[in-house]
Amino acid sequence: MDSENGPPDKATTEEGAAAPSAPAPQAVDTPIAQPVPRRPFSRRLFILGGFWSGLLLAVVGVAGVPLDFVFPRNVKGFGGPIPVTPDRIPAEGEDPIRIFEGRFWLANLKAGVTANGEETPGGLLALWQKCPHLGCTVPWRADFSFRGSKGWFRCPCHGSTYTKDGGVLVEGPAPRPLDIFPLKIKDDLSIVVQTGEGTSLKGNALNPSRATPYQPGNETSD
Ligand code: FES
Repeated sequence: MDSENGPPDKATTEEGAAAPSAPAPQAVDTPIAQPVPRRPFSRRLFILGGFWSGLLLAVVGVAGVPLDFVFPRNVKGFGGPIPVTPDRIPAEGEDPIRIFEGRFWLANLKAGVTANGEETPGGLLALWQKCPHLGCTVPWRADFSFRGSKGWFRCPCHGSTYTKDGGVLVEGPAPRPLDIFPLKIKDDLSIVVQTGEGTSLKGNALNPSRATPYQPGNETSD
């Protein structure tokens, strides 16, 4: 339809048909770039840190073992000092007493000459229970009769037999008498026995002479 005051409407053709309208603009959802958050550690730093940490652990692993021997920590139980109170110390000439936590037999010898013929000042001996042959634990056999007397240390593995007064070897394949641990007698008559592989003294036929007279202040001499 013509307008009375101007040109015909743009939307009307000569034939009067309505012209197709232009498509309405569509909103485009354009993603907005966000700043990438910074990582606290870069990959390079992470790899370097892993390398140096691994190297440090390797050094500590290699060097730590010898240091542990050079500067031993406060060892308790076997391998360190074992205190023994007076009530656990056998009377002179009595059967030896087993000190389980220290893995030794504590003997108290009478001064003089032993039944096996060795001289001794008398006193205490801490005899390591480990057989010097192949390491079996050697029990005290109060009921075991041998060579006309009763009461011996007798290894159950291969029969090594040791005297009551000092663990002197009298029979069997062991290469020597029982090893001993050094001990010290304190003022209150308790004792401290130094145990462990590194502190043991090799057993020999003079074990009875190494007994420590049971007096305060005395200690085992090499
Ligand atoms: S281990 Fe004791 S005799 Fe062989």
